Amino acid sequence: MRRGSIVQLVAIGVLCGAGATAVALLVPWLPDPASKQADRIDFVFWFVTAISIAIFALVAAVIIYSLIKFRARPDEDADGPPIHGNTGLEIAWTAVPAVLVTAIAIVSAVVLGQNSRVASASRARPLDPLVVDVISQQFAWSFKYPDYGDAVSATLRLPVHTPVKLEITSLDVIHSFWVPEFSQKQDAVPGSINPLVINPTRTGHFPVICTELCGLGHALMRSTAIVTSKDAFLAWANGQKQKLAGPPSVSGKAVFTANACSSCHTFTPAGATAKIGPDLDKLAAEAKRAGQPLDSFIRESIVNPSAYVEPGFPNGIMPTTFATLPKPQLDALVAYLASGGKQ
Ligand code: CUA
Repeated sequence: MRRGSIVQLVAIGVLCGAGATAVALLVPWLPDPASKQADRIDFVFWFVTAISIAIFALVAAVIIYSLIKFRARPDEDADGPPIHGNTGLEIAWTAVPAVLVTAIAIVSAVVLGQNSRVASASRARPLDPLVVDVISQQFAWSFKYPDYGDAVSATLRLPVHTPVKLEITSLDVIHSFWVPEFSQKQDAVPGSINPLVINPTRTGHFPVICTELCGLGHALMRSTAIVTSKDAFLAWANGQKQKLAGPPSVSGKAVFTANACSSCHTFTPAGATAKIGPDLDKLAAEAKRAGQPLDSFIRESIVNPSAYVEPGFPNGIMPTTFATLPKPQLDALVAYLASGGKQ
């Protein structure tokens, strides 16, 4: 091969590689990682991307060079020279991809292993690791803190730079937990507890998204992960714990929010505007149609939603899991709805 041809090939390859690199770097393909695990996954992503760009540049250079150099001239209709393989080339294009694919497999396996490792608890660092029960149901997330008196929150509060073990489960159908900035996804399956380990590396608000099609409210099944300093987290968590230790004062609005009623219903006092289920601003008229007193109508609609179905809404959409709400919470929710948000 002449030196001029090699220079041309390399020049085309460098151009193609530069173009592909610009597309890879200038487009924000992934959110900024916010956990150690996401940093590792990011590394694998860029490792694979770099290999892909190199191979793309090589293949594109050979194709473009051949298209130009070996094209048939208008007056040329003879066959090309017969070629019977090239052993050296064949060994190279078998061995090089085998090495690259093996390297990708090793790097991925190491990252998978590291990302599922849980730091062990120690007395010196009582937060190590913090366990959070992640409970999913149609169409809401709730987060329970066993280390803080089983405090329950509708948002996922996490301390920065602390290993966290999420224990993810579901009360009804299969959901899937995903925070894009934490990179990992984990299925929430009824009857089993799936772990996910996270070491948040920066503070901020990040979306919690359900990433398994789970019903009509799937697209609305969102929450927020709030990563704060360790001190701010401890202040919040201990505050929640103390609130639980005090006399029970259940707010209907808190029950409404924690169970994500606003994912499906309109209820002006709570700022809810969804239209999947009946309008809770019109409960009085709906109770009248059902021929029941308001309070018992609301209670029945929560614990046994199929008993009366408002015309225009399909049966079986309202989850039946709210029947398991503790009585004080159920009472507070019924009072809150019956009073039009005043109680
Ligand atoms: Cu839960 Cu989609």
